[in-house]
Amino acid sequence: MDHRMGFSPLEGEFEFDALPIEGEVPPWLRGTLFRNGPGTWEAGKDRMRHWFDGLAMLHRFGFHGDGVSYANRYLHSPQYRHVQREGAIGYSEFATDPCRSIFKRLASAFSPEQSFGSNASVTVHKLAGRFVALTETPLPVEFDPETLETVGVVEYEDDVEGIGTSPHPHTDPESGDALNTITHFSRTSEYKVFRLPAGAGTARREVVARILAREPAYMHSFGQTERHVVLAEYPLVVNPLKMLLTGRPYAENLEWKPERPTRFHVVDKESGKLIGSHEAEAFFAFHHVNAFERDGEIFVDLLTYPDDAAIRDHYMDALRSGKGPTAAAELRRYRLQPNGSTSYETLTGEPFELPRINYEARNGHDYSYVYGIGQDRENPERWPDRLVKVNVRDGSTWVWREEGCYPGEPVFVPAPDGRSEDSGVVLSVVLDAAAGTSLLLILDAGSFAEVARAQVPHHIPFGFHGQYFGEVGD
Ligand SMILES: [Fe+2]
Repeated sequence: MDHRMGFSPLEGEFEFDALPIEGEVPPWLRGTLFRNGPGTWEAGKDRMRHWFDGLAMLHRFGFHGDGVSYANRYLHSPQYRHVQREGAIGYSEFATDPCRSIFKRLASAFSPEQSFGSNASVTVHKLAGRFVALTETPLPVEFDPETLETVGVVEYEDDVEGIGTSPHPHTDPESGDALNTITHFSRTSEYKVFRLPAGAGTARREVVARILAREPAYMHSFGQTERHVVLAEYPLVVNPLKMLLTGRPYAENLEWKPERPTRFHVVDKESGKLIGSHEAEAFFAFHHVNAFERDGEIFVDLLTYPDDAAIRDHYMDALRSGKGPTAAAELRRYRLQPNGSTSYETLTGEPFELPRINYEARNGHDYSYVYGIGQDRENPERWPDRLVKVNVRDGSTWVWREEGCYPGEPVFVPAPDGRSEDSGVVLSVVLDAAAGTSLLLILDAGSFAEVARAQVPHHIPFGFHGQYFGEVGD
């Protein structure tokens, strides 16, 4: 089997106290890596059409000093429960809609709870003291970090309207609060930047800033500097009224309008003031890598694409037929100057995605290293088959690759006594397609050499993001 095994469902739920290990797990690594991603794209009589739409499955790798444990469970979101109960999908996903009459559709358009099933398959975070699974619809789903059992959809104690949010909130280093964006679609659509206080138990969002948007853009992530948040508004937009009437899922309402610029909106985190909206050429990105300020200028690093093909590339029919990406991401550094002008430089010729940095130490600051899953430069249409580390200062690159292996997002974990930005390890779930199983790979982040691997007895479908928490499983 080739990489397409990553798009085969995993039906079973398992728990293993100790996975077989090769090499030596660093004794300081004591904590938990949670991963999120689709477990299956089958939904009774229905089938999810897009990679992003599969039913969320959580995976937990526990590091206990002397071993690595593993468990996985489906997230019991409203969508999942509907599929179990009715044998069909009940809510809209990114690129898959349930069969509904126009009357039902219009009725649910005014009620996000009726439209979206919180199939939170994108990532895991700790928000307001709770472990939650996140996606691009607004309501997180809380789970128990020990058992992976679903606690339930988090009900916010506020009236912040909006349906499209980022699954990549930032942590404000000053307060520990989460900062995020949410898009409200209506006749007067707007992006809101909001703050979710860190205090356990509080689930009340406070709107920091509002930015009007006639046709709101699809924004998967945003940037944070010391004082600002930076929204990159790509010319990949929807017309809210048209979306209501087409009866097509969100992704099929996205229109690529390359005659429009990409706009960088810079918001002061404290005052909420819109400091500037800088125009650049049209491009699209899923992921900001980092952003920082220097001498009155703002630098924004993102993985850019020339257009929106990266969304269309990930429909399941194409992926299962073996088609790989048609576009390779380019790491660009945009420079936003106080006079409103922008320019960019390309930081590396290495195409990669699912970027991670030493977030705790370097988010919002000038930095050196980014880690990601890489593609073959000569054959970018092949599925990403390597892990890369890039020094953004000089473009030097490290690669980990093994024949027939397809790694997932590399999560950087800092060593407790780490003296440099890359002191620590990188954790990645790797599909070994020939063996038909997955493994948890541990690389030394400095040398990018393997230090250990823990073997999982089954395959883990290709997922998206995860987080490591030092305090769980100690
Ligand atoms: Fe993402």
